[in-house]
Amino acid sequence: TLPQRVRLFEMAPRDGLQNEPGAMVPTATKIELIERLASAGIRHIEAASFVSPRWVPQMGDAGDVMRGITRMPGVVYSALTPNLKGLENALEAGVEEVAVFGAASEAFSQKNINCSITESLTRFAPVLERAQGAGVRVRGYVSCVLGCPYEGAIEPARVATVARALLDMGCYEISLGDTIGVGTPLAAKRMINTVSQEVPIERLAAHFHDTYGMAIANLYAVMEEGISVIDAATGGLGGCPYAKGASGNVATEDVLYLLEGLGIDTGIDLQAVIETGVWITRALGRRPGSKVALARGTR
Ligand code: HMG
Ligand code: MG
Repeated sequence: TLPQRVRLFEMAPRDGLQNEPGAMVPTATKIELIERLASAGIRHIEAASFVSPRWVPQMGDAGDVMRGITRMPGVVYSALTPNLKGLENALEAGVEEVAVFGAASEAFSQKNINCSITESLTRFAPVLERAQGAGVRVRGYVSCVLGCPYEGAIEPARVATVARALLDMGCYEISLGDTIGVGTPLAAKRMINTVSQEVPIERLAAHFHDTYGMAIANLYAVMEEGISVIDAATGGLGGCPYAKGASGNVATEDVLYLLEGLGIDTGIDLQAVIETGVWITRALGRRPGSKVALARGTR
């Protein structure tokens, strides 16, 4: 059975923009994007990433972005923090929720965060301890849950092991990333069913990319298994710098259209998100990656 309510976690300012090639997206544009998304009724926004600017130049102004936004009451603005250095910078910028990110694939872990899966977990432990000491909630990501650009197929049991380790460490929620968007519905269901034997399904989120156009089908499939937290990016923005060929996250507009059709409540204004998606994709000089935006949002 499908959930009655879905919590949508907006990814455009972080996952959406981190891979943007060429010139830096102006800090003011990032801030306006975040503020528009909050005004549309989105209550959970991944706003920035406190990673090494050498690795991901586009997120180099994370502190300025976090300090620059006008916060709307009831909205949580979070940021990625791969290590203690990132966490300290995030805390200094007033971040109230952070996320650590690991992978189910050894090769991807090395390419993305320059360490093995085991080393990454060792590195996250003090990040969680310090964050919790500061009253900051921590989310955990597992990448490559349905396939890896370097290793190919990934066994669901490997995803479950990493997800469980992040939960045991204190992550309040584990977001399962189909980083390169290769999943299909039955594989997604099977993966969720395996992982939910180790982590309660209420603590799992689906973070699907739309490379092969399967993200909406995959989301429908995992909602049937009980998933009720969905990560998505307005305009379908994004890609991963360490996953060649990966396209953006599933578009928020497309997810909202699906949920509206299913009678599932999110409290988000679809039209306002469409307009935001049209605005940001124009600002970046590209076409919206959302089918709904193409159908409704452009003239
Ligand atoms: P490293 O080079 O091994 O780090 O990188 P290090 O600890 O050896 O430090 C090297 C230098 O980086 C030092 O500077 C540090 O101070 C600096 P130096 O002394 O040489 O001048 N440094 C930092 N600077 C700023 N902020 C920091 C930081 N840490 C070290 N936090 C590291 C390791 C993890 C830092 C690096 O690999 C990195 O930043 N990786 C981030 C990659 C990334 O952001 N990927 C995209 C996000 S994940 C994703 O998109 C997937 C997801 O969406 C889910 C899905 O779709 O699957 C979440
Ligand atoms: Mg992602």
